[in-house]
Parts: sequence; structure tokens; C-alpha cells
Amino acid sequence: MRLACTVNGERREAGGLWPGESLLYVLRERLGLPGAKNACEQGECGSCSVLLDDVLVCACLVPALQAQDRDVVTVEGLAAADLQEAFVDAGAVQCGFCTPCLVVAAHDLLRRCPNAGEADVREALAGNLCRCTGYVKILDAVRLAAERRRR
Ligand code: FES
Ligand code: FES
Repeated sequence: MRLACTVNGERREAGGLWPGESLLYVLRERLGLPGAKNACEQGECGSCSVLLDDVLVCACLVPALQAQDRDVVTVEGLAAADLQEAFVDAGAVQCGFCTPCLVVAAHDLLRRCPNAGEADVREALAGNLCRCTGYVKILDAVRLAAERRRR
């Protein structure tokens, strides 16, 4: 089976897919985009978060063929690096495993809700697990990015 879709603004194709192969597998193993991480493969940790037609999804739960002719954005495709910089500046990166998808989730929040408050940020990131930081620095990073965008 063959998948053709837009990934990070470029038309991409992959062949030889097996039935039920996940979008996460295709992104990482067939298209060379390792930003979305593979952890639980059960939709529990958020490490594989990407945007599919502007909706935040867990790529491990999306059969790749559902992305046919649709628009996928991964952390590699985010035009602005301000969130990544805010994560570094706030000390929100330890092992870094969760960081790419937290950045995608925060990007999704701030484009929908530029004036996101504390509760909005917590809710938006609730599906993304971090094993290292305790979340305080992550919340600081998103607040910092939001403040910088408002300046
Ligand atoms: S790897 Fe997809 S939610 Fe955990
Ligand atoms: S920084 Fe290690 S999992 Fe979040």
C-alpha cells in the first residue's frame, strides 16, 4: 500500500505500508522524521503528537492511510523556533524525550489561544507525559513563549 500526503509543507510518498501501520511508524521509519517519539504506542503519553489537518493527534493511534492526501505537521516543520528557545531558556529540557511533542502541543495551544492562561496551558499539555522535569519548568517555558509572542 502507498501513502501520499503533505508533511511539513512538502508532498511526501511512502510505499510498502502494511495494513494498520501507524502514521508514527511512517514518519519515523519511512520518511526520516524522528521528532515524534515512540514510547507507549497506546495513546497514553503524547510523545508522538503531530498535527493532522491542524488537529493535534497521537500519531501512534492514527493508521497511516488515514493521512492520505492530508496535511501533517511534525516538530521538524514548525516554522518558528521560539517555543524550542523558550524550553531551553526556562530549563525545561532534561533528557529531551518529551520535548518535541510538548513543543507541538504548546504550538497548537498558542496558535488557537494566544492569551492562554495557566489552566489552558495545563489542560493543553495534560496528555503529554514527562519522566524527568516535574512539569514546573515546562509550564514556565510555555508561559515564557506566550509572553514573548505578546510583546
Ligand atoms: S507513543 Fe503515542 S501516545 Fe505514547
Ligand atoms: S525531559 Fe525527559 S521525559 Fe521530559
